[in-house]
Amino acid sequence: MNTTRVIRGASVVSNGSLQKVDILVAGERISGVTIPGAIVPPPSAEVVEANGLWALPGGVDVHVHLREPGYTHKEDIETATKAAAAGGYTTLFGMPNVKPPTMTASDLESALELYDRKSLVDYNHNPAAKQTDQIAIMAEQGIAAYKIYMVADTGRSYPHPAAIGVHDHGHLLEAMQAVAATGLPLMVHPHDQRIEEVVEQRFWAEGDRSPQAYARTLATGDGLLWDTATSLLLRLAEATGCRLHIVHTTTSRQVEMIRAARRRGVKVTCEVNHWGLFLATWELVQELGPYVLSYWVPAHHQKAVWQALRDGSIDMVASDHAPHTREEKDVGYQDMWAAHTGTPGIQYQLPLLIDAHHQGRISLGRLVEVVAGAPARLFGLSGKGRIEPGADADLVLVDPDREWTITNESVLSKIDWTPYHGRTIRGAVQRTLVRGADVYVDGEVVGTPGFGRQAIPDATKRS
Ligand code: DOR
Ligand code: ZN
Repeated sequence: MNTTRVIRGASVVSNGSLQKVDILVAGERISGVTIPGAIVPPPSAEVVEANGLWALPGGVDVHVHLREPGYTHKEDIETATKAAAAGGYTTLFGMPNVKPPTMTASDLESALELYDRKSLVDYNHNPAAKQTDQIAIMAEQGIAAYKIYMVADTGRSYPHPAAIGVHDHGHLLEAMQAVAATGLPLMVHPHDQRIEEVVEQRFWAEGDRSPQAYARTLATGDGLLWDTATSLLLRLAEATGCRLHIVHTTTSRQVEMIRAARRRGVKVTCEVNHWGLFLATWELVQELGPYVLSYWVPAHHQKAVWQALRDGSIDMVASDHAPHTREEKDVGYQDMWAAHTGTPGIQYQLPLLIDAHHQGRISLGRLVEVVAGAPARLFGLSGKGRIEPGADADLVLVDPDREWTITNESVLSKIDWTPYHGRTIRGAVQRTLVRGADVYVDGEVVGTPGFGRQAIPDATKRS
């Protein structure tokens, strides 16, 4: 196929440093990456001038809550994927805590059909690996991973409805054996439910249901309820051969356990989320309460998590984009256990990481790896996450130096707030392309619902 577009004079990250190139696109794929001007494109090709811009592989976000079906007052597939396009994400995986929760082949089929009609970017959807008799069947539907929540809500019924939680060790063993047989990764939200319950009862007995009490409960014993769950999961992964992916890595001990398990040959990957990197401080728990909970990550853990992201112990950043309405958050000032926890962020995560790069917190090579390269490779999406001939033309053009202020007004999610309101950062997304087509250009979402396709993994390429 002839060249249809040329991204001219963009800087790409090659061996950790910037290199100026022309990127040739033929239809949906990258057909060449050349030194500027090396190839004269046919007159019919559209030229995108990208002087002074970085071209990064489109982000691959393996952990996104799109809320559809069932919770579309918070978000839907169209609004979430608009926010993704504006944030430089070209592929995302949705999560099963929707209504009905995605637990069977037929739930999964209906969910995938919704994305097919509504998504602006490429997608997949992780069903819950709770009904063990469904696990093998769902592998045939082109999924990239399964999900398990070890947490169930106490005091509210969302975002962790009891129907999806799995805490019982025997049930976990069965689920992991069934997932291991598929060869697909299992994403697990590590949590020790009984420890949470014992600790929260003490706060409740004193009548303390504040955001601070909630934050302290979850972080009890310096991360006890995440660490105990992680240790269990690693041991089960070792016994079953299941490919384990730990979501929201939060503590230094989790990082140490994951490193040690890898040395023994356990197949384990992990992610950190935007809120763990940029939000989860005690100062912000005090200032924004329910709006930054998710979890509080004590400073020494946050430092360890950043270090682990730099040195490769943490493989990737995923957003855990988790929109909730103001009403669902505001009740948390009185009773944090009644508030819906989770923090939206897919629209701002990449610019925040670029800003972090400018501050010396992460190298460019690692940035590209954690946003796109690693998630694509580890979940078997061989056409994604790289700027090379033959790969999908999923690209994000970034103005690395533009300073701008994140505001509630800029939010494309259905909710009208962001915990980053008022933050001024350096680095902005200028244009996003999915398979060669513009989905976001200069502040406008231009993609069409239904353009996105299921990103089906290639098992032979997963590494
Ligand atoms: O606090 C959370 N909220 N943790 C999760 O794992 C899910 C998320 C949500 O869906 O809102
Ligand atoms: Zn989540």
